[in-house]
Amino acid sequence: MSKKLSVSRMGKTFGAIIEGINVATDTDPDTMAEIKGLWAEHQLLLFRNQDLSEEQLVAFSRGLGDLEIHLRREYLSPDNPEILMISNIKDGDRSIGILSDTEVGWHYDQIYLPKPAVGSMLYSVILPNNGGQTSFADMAAAYDGLSDDMKAKLEGKKAIQSYAAFNAQFSVPTNSKQKKMSPDIAQPLVRTHPITGRKALYICPGMTVQIVGLDEDDSRETLEFLFDWCVRDEFVYTHDWVLGDALLWDNASAMHRREPFDSSEDRLMKRTTILPPDNIATPF
Ligand code: OGA
Ligand code: MN
Repeated sequence: MSKKLSVSRMGKTFGAIIEGINVATDTDPDTMAEIKGLWAEHQLLLFRNQDLSEEQLVAFSRGLGDLEIHLRREYLSPDNPEILMISNIKDGDRSIGILSDTEVGWHYDQIYLPKPAVGSMLYSVILPNNGGQTSFADMAAAYDGLSDDMKAKLEGKKAIQSYAAFNAQFSVPTNSKQKKMSPDIAQPLVRTHPITGRKALYICPGMTVQIVGLDEDDSRETLEFLFDWCVRDEFVYTHDWVLGDALLWDNASAMHRREPFDSSEDRLMKRTTILPPDNIATPF
């Protein structure tokens, strides 16, 4: 641990507040190596009081891995395509960002892709007075807490992930080109973290539609049980945003959701999407 960074626990089982870092400027290799370690260890990192240009957000994120140009091209920042705009603000008829002001159900970003992003960094730019909190569930702790019988039942199983199902309920449908880039896909139901080796439930109410190899009733009942289980209070941290907060999460062991907020208020968040090294990119 460097002399500079201070780390304090944020949620009950996971999450850490990192102090003593200026995300805008502290992008030297030693700091980035340390942040990478903390990110894998704590699954969710909060950096407070940041004042970031888009270029600075991109530069810091790039220190963590290659960045993805999100397939929702229509919601990218016009100046920096590495940034996905999450917003209900409109420019005339056009939404400048995705996810509007409605509830966004529990999901893992990109669980529907063969090589899902390893994380996302979300920076608050404009916040509503009420609502819009983002919650995270510790899916590694949730897995650890399962009974041995349930772990045995899930061992080696895959589940079908559907971006279309998520969009139908919580977002805007993809266009035909984007649909071709994100067909339903089977992923391991229990995912081994490529860096820590820890197992986590790799399912989410917003996108997981079926467990492969179970009959329909068993699949539905098992998913219902798991979805209730992993959002128990003990596994969840809810973030009440303060302007200047930036959150970085581990997308292999934490899922998230967002509260709705009043449509008369504006909210603007800027997100980078961080890719894993190719040799550990495919979930196992
Ligand atoms: C995301 C996301 C929720 C929020 O950026 O991936 O789900 O709070 N955002 O805006
Ligand atoms: Mn998300």
